[in-house]
Amino acid sequence: MSRIKERGLRALNLKDYNSENIPEYIGQLKLTPPSERQYVLRILIKRPFEDLQVPKDLKWCQPMIDMALKAQELYGLRQPFLYLTVRHGKVTSTTDDVWHVDGFSQTITHLPEQNYIWCSHTPTEVALKPINFPLDFDSNRHNIHDFFDKVINDQTKIITVDSETVYAMDPYVIHRRPKIESGTVRTFVRLSFTPIEINDLNNTFNPQMPTNYKRDGRVDFRNKLISYHEDRYFLLNNMFNFITKNLENPNITPIEIDYLTSHLNLILEELEELETLLS
Ligand SMILES: [Fe+2]
Repeated sequence: MSRIKERGLRALNLKDYNSENIPEYIGQLKLTPPSERQYVLRILIKRPFEDLQVPKDLKWCQPMIDMALKAQELYGLRQPFLYLTVRHGKVTSTTDDVWHVDGFSQTITHLPEQNYIWCSHTPTEVALKPINFPLDFDSNRHNIHDFFDKVINDQTKIITVDSETVYAMDPYVIHRRPKIESGTVRTFVRLSFTPIEINDLNNTFNPQMPTNYKRDGRVDFRNKLISYHEDRYFLLNNMFNFITKNLENPNITPIEIDYLTSHLNLILEELEELETLLS
């Protein structure tokens, strides 16, 4: 098992998924959210050479910010940007209850971010699944979340963290929000210490820290990624057709037949596995 502290010193990579990566306990905490609904997505509250700027209506998150800043200091991990996410009110979104990680992107080489999470009840579930990515997995082409969804199954060990408790995570901790009945009131807070600015127009604007984000993260990149398993299925199917066509060649030698058939068997075996996975 590796830890956030050591992973924090290595550029974001696929090899670090090869262990049971757990959220790290920081401490219990009582927070007092406002009575009205609050929904804030990655509001920038700190950037280099500037003081922390927490909008007044988000000051109730300050005890968690203090705790997370202290934890980052103890880890010895310095990140230039800090974003705050708050979902407080009736649960409506469904995107969080699928297996995912926060902050995975290999478009540019960078150190992993650290996220601190807290919730009032129905806490985050974590999949303890060491993952060995196939050599042909390309994170700039294939959707890593789709990959998790395909390989995490009933046999995967799942743990649930505690509510009203702060945990540290990094992009190697595979997690999801448990299914919550729509309409249930819940509070979730996340602090993201990031090595690069998250240029995303979906981020909530902080008037005390003006930004001019123009990129739409979802539309520009994430939506263009394809399923690794579907991609592989397509490739193997083409290979299968290619080989069967060659086997029909009247001039084929017995050695070639042997060679091609052994390949064909391997392809068929993998195609069968993929069919089960994709069904
Ligand atoms: Fe998450």
